[in-house]
Amino acid sequence: YAIQTNGCQMNVADSERLEGILQNELGLQPINMDESYRPVNKVELNTADVIIFNTCSIRDHAEQKLYDALGPFRARKRQKQVEGDTSNSDFALIVTGCVAQQEGLRLLQKIPEIDVVLGPQYVPYLSEVLTKIEWGYQFCLTEPTIIIDNYKTNYDGSTSIRAWVNVIYGCNEHCTYCVVPATRGMEQSRSMESILEECLDLINNRGYKEVTLLGQNIDAYGRDMVPKRSFADLLHYLNSNLSSITSKCRLRYVTSHPRYFSDRVIDAVSTLPSVCECFHMPFQAGDNDVLRRMRRGYTYESYMKIIHKIRTASPDAAITADVIVGFPGETEEAFQRTLDLMDEVKFDNLNSFAYSARPNTEAATWTNDDATTTTSTTATSTTIDLTTAERLARVQELAVRNGLERSQRYLGRVIEVLVEDKNPRNNGQVMGRTRQGRQVFFDGSIDELKGEFVNVEIIEARTWSLMGR
Ligand code: 5AD
Ligand code: SF4
Ligand code: F3S
Repeated sequence: YAIQTNGCQMNVADSERLEGILQNELGLQPINMDESYRPVNKVELNTADVIIFNTCSIRDHAEQKLYDALGPFRARKRQKQVEGDTSNSDFALIVTGCVAQQEGLRLLQKIPEIDVVLGPQYVPYLSEVLTKIEWGYQFCLTEPTIIIDNYKTNYDGSTSIRAWVNVIYGCNEHCTYCVVPATRGMEQSRSMESILEECLDLINNRGYKEVTLLGQNIDAYGRDMVPKRSFADLLHYLNSNLSSITSKCRLRYVTSHPRYFSDRVIDAVSTLPSVCECFHMPFQAGDNDVLRRMRRGYTYESYMKIIHKIRTASPDAAITADVIVGFPGETEEAFQRTLDLMDEVKFDNLNSFAYSARPNTEAATWTNDDATTTTSTTATSTTIDLTTAERLARVQELAVRNGLERSQRYLGRVIEVLVEDKNPRNNGQVMGRTRQGRQVFFDGSIDELKGEFVNVEIIEARTWSLMGR
């Protein structure tokens, strides 16, 4: 099999799960799947029996990229058909991820060589899907469904130190630029017990040292449960259960939403020993009018209030964020507020994006001239205009200055680094991360140090990384 993955950690986690099913490791096999698959390398791509594209549609024309990538596989299907086999059963061509969910049946109609369009919620059912393909069915599975909770991902304990664990799927927000609510469906929280079980399996049985909890809006965790739970409850529950096990481990999580972020989470992060001092809190824009039109539910001032609380409770914590520039109607003055906010916070790291109009989102119908009406034509262009490009450059320049300043605070300190891998550019060195998530490089042998917690003295600060000894 071959899986091509784009997009966020949700897709990476889904792809790992798909691999787990294909490699027959999960005990989830269908009646008919008695063999397991193995990954093919790039050269053998054309011989794969199962080809899966796991797609992202958060920005740009992801559909177009997908059509291009599908080209050779469409040709292979057609070739087979010419030779007289019209069953489509020579290999399975599956498209999953957010483009699959977004385009649904349209995708199947446009590209009839695809066997199955698989919404991300149906990832756990891959084996049943393969059986149906073998029977000659062609279909689209994108109806909202309850996600099954009792599965585990395929983890390769021999190569990895960091694992990702979903805690809440979907998103109930209505940010006006975002496709995620449409592609990932309603919020569904996993039970605390099954999250713990998965974490314990990763740490005790598979050698992982760090788990990142995943949710598009993780602060919504538990609000769909009976009785209600909160994300802070989950952090306490995991920390207390993990502290009783022998091997040391770190917990992280993404992504916070400033609207729902609670003081209890700040308290948990700053006091619980296994939870790393990191806050990834996208602000998206600094201007209150832009924030209102993005329907983010907070203001510049309320965002800064959270930042001050974090800095007071956890002075050494890393604060990182996402920001969008060029949202419809963003004036130069409004943009300046984004820079002001960055100046005030000094983010450790920042992901900056040019606004991209997405299908079926509210803001896609707005233009720069008339940002508040919904009557103008749908924007489809992905070319970034000059103003947006220039603003993006200004954001990135400031982010670099802030990043370097944040790195410099480590100079001369001795800090705990969890070693993950060798330095790809210098094999005499290893790479690890501080609790706050900064990469650290230092001399050492990966065979000896992989997965170890090492105290490292920081001797050089770079923008996004540190050198140590
Ligand atoms: N255009 C540009 N950036 C976007 N993001 C989400 N939707 C869009 C869009 N339509 C960014 C946000 C989000 C991150 C994952 O992607 O900053 O936090
Ligand atoms: Fe998208 Fe907003 Fe949900 Fe984040 S909170 S996934 S930006 S809708
Ligand atoms: Fe993730 Fe992209 Fe979907 S960021 S949620 S894969 S649109």
